[in-house]
Order: sequence, then C-alpha cells, then structure tokens
Amino acid sequence: MQDYLREFKPAGRLLLGPGPANAHPRVLQAMAMPLLGHLDPDFLRLMDDVREMLRQVFQTGNGLTLPISGTGTAGMEAALVNMLEPGDTIVVGVNGFFGGRIAQIAERAGAKVVAVEHQWGRPLAPEAIKKGLDGQRKVKAVAMVHGETSTGVLTPLPELVRLAHEHDALFMVDAVTSLGGVDLRVDEWGIDVCFSASQKCLACPPGLAPTTFGARALAALDSRKTPVQSLYFDLNMLRTYWHQRSYHHTAPISMLFALREGLRLVLEEGLEARFARHKRVAAALCAGLEALGLELFAQEGYRLPQLTTVVIPDGVKDADVRGALLRDYNIEIGGGLGEYAGRLWRIGLMGHNATPANVLYLLSSLEEVLARQGFEVPLGQGVAAAQRALARSV
Ligand SMILES: Cc1ncc(COP(=O)(O)O)c(C=O)c1O
Repeated sequence: MQDYLREFKPAGRLLLGPGPANAHPRVLQAMAMPLLGHLDPDFLRLMDDVREMLRQVFQTGNGLTLPISGTGTAGMEAALVNMLEPGDTIVVGVNGFFGGRIAQIAERAGAKVVAVEHQWGRPLAPEAIKKGLDGQRKVKAVAMVHGETSTGVLTPLPELVRLAHEHDALFMVDAVTSLGGVDLRVDEWGIDVCFSASQKCLACPPGLAPTTFGARALAALDSRKTPVQSLYFDLNMLRTYWHQRSYHHTAPISMLFALREGLRLVLEEGLEARFARHKRVAAALCAGLEALGLELFAQEGYRLPQLTTVVIPDGVKDADVRGALLRDYNIEIGGGLGEYAGRLWRIGLMGHNATPANVLYLLSSLEEVLARQGFEVPLGQGVAAAQRALARSV
C-alpha cells in the first residue's frame, strides 16, 4: 500500500513550544460534533455565545467583537487593513519578530511606517514610543505586541495607550499569546483594537483570530475615504455577517464549536484564577531552569508567564536537544526566531498545558537530554527547585 493511503495517526505530542499548545480534550470533542449550516438557527445562537464570551475574555463591552476566520496573522492583517488607508502614518513598536510583522503588513497596506526598533528581550519603553510619535505631524495609529512570543517579554500597556491617545492616534495591540494567560483589560486600559488567536492560551487549535474594535476604531472605519483593500477581511462586510447574518463567507463551523468550548473553559475557571495558574507554573519553570545553570533571556520583571525563553548554553546543539526531547519524550519546544535562531529555546506553558505536571516532566526530560549532550547538569536539581517553588505558592 502507498504510504499516503495509510491512516494518518500523529503521535500524541506534548506541545510546549510557542504554539500551538495542546487543545483541551473538551475542545477536541466539540470539534467532532456534526456540522451545522452556517445560517442554521442553532449556529446563529452559537455565534452570539461566542461573541458574548469573547467580550468577557477581552474584558470589553465592544459591540464589534468577533473571531476572524484564519490564524493570528489574519487577525493582525484584518486589524491593520481596516484601520489604515494608503498614506496614513503608523508608529509600530518592534521589540521582536511579531512587532516586525505588524510593520510589514502596515507597509503593504500603503501606510508610512515609523518602526521604533527596541532591544529584543526588553519591554517597549514609553520614551522610545514617544520619540517615534513626536517627530510626526499626524499619526493614525500606534501598534505593538503585548506578549512577544519571539522573546518571552510582556510589555505593560496602560502608559503606552495614554501616549497614543495624547497624539490622537488609535492604539492597536497584538494579544495573540497574551489573551487568556495574562491580564488584558481592553476597556479599562483604553485599547482601540485588539487581536488574538485561538491556539495559545485559549486551548483551541489554530484557525480563528478573536478581535475587538472600540468606538474610536469604528469611527476611523466609518470615515475611510477608500474601500478596504481586502474583501475577505472587510470589517463592514464581516459586521453585516455577524450582526445581520447575511452571507459573506462560509464560517469554519467546527472551529467555532471549538472556540465556544475553549471560551467556556476560560470562564468556568475564571480569568483571575487562570492568570494565577499561568504565573505559578511559569515561576516554577524559571526556578527549575535557573537551578540547572541555564540563563533566562527575557528581562526579569517583564517575563511572559506563558512563554519562557532560555539562552542555549555554549557547546550545546539546539537541534540535537530539541530532536531528543521530541523523539524520546514526545515533547516539542521551540527554537529562536530571526537573529536568535539557534541561540534560544522557547518553552510554552499555555492554556491547558500550564500545569505543574508538565513543568516537572519537561525539567526532568531536559536534564537528562542535556546530561547526554555532555552539559554539566546537576541532575535532579531543576525538578527539586520547581517543586519547592510550587510548594511555596499553593
Ligand atoms: C505574538 C504573535 N503575533 C502574531 C502571531 C501570528 O499568528 P499565526 O502564526 O497564528 O498566524 C504569532 C504566532 O505565533 C504570535 O506569537
């Protein structure tokens, strides 16, 4: 029999990289439900549920809160092409790979991009963004990433939102990795546009990009002089589809079943409890890694709980370690991006995967793999330090 005719049965990996994370079993079960038509009354009710729960998770009352069909980049692209018109100026904070992607998309949308390049591994500093803003006559938007998955850095937002608004600019933020894992208060902080993705702390597969747009964003949309260049991401058309149910595109039905269940899980747990869980396991992981003599990359005080970055020690081969973890322990962790390829590991504890058991399993596996590589590792010390951290934080 040809190989491609055989049943495809992937190994049950533990996905501890930068995403996707493992989907919760209840989410996978929801995806196996029979399909509905995308204008079926039951499906329309589900769309309402999803929008309501998304509002709660984004901590917003925004009417225009909906999942875009596509992955996180689709959410990013939808946000940018709707808010920007050719010739508009946007200030983009770039302290990692995904900030760079925002700048690229904005440029393709015909905007003048002022990229504020900042050191990777550090949060975006208000002074740097202020410098970028001060040189410009009229700025349409300021955009940046909340939790940079390429570096494991969390940038505090409230001060940056204030700066953008002082310049009468919209504040747009990438919450692809942060949503559902750390506090993100769209209304209280004054965020105008926020986009995320289903496959990280929401514990769903990749395929949907939750987004929310506030009143200032809607005013910007309504006052456009040019049509949105993308039909698929045209918010006016999407708004009609989600609010008045007239056909725009065929919704990815099973993915919406998944997202509904993922959001239900978030709200059943409670936002505060979920954030605390991510924080607790991240602290244990960091304690364990440091006890092994490994150096953490992201600046202390600004570490993203759901994604920890580790400097690969001299003499240790990135591909061999990640290969051994995958082959021998069924664990996936991520490598570095851009100039940090081969220099960093990225370890994710996101959503359903943010558990003490996963921390201890990863640390014990990593210890063994590193020892095999000849790295002087104090065997057992990583696990012990993580256990102590967990015991202290019950
Ligand atoms: C912060 C951030 N923004 C955007 C993206 C792009 O999302 P996707 O790969 O789902 O298109 C990612 C993906 O990991 C991300 O981590």
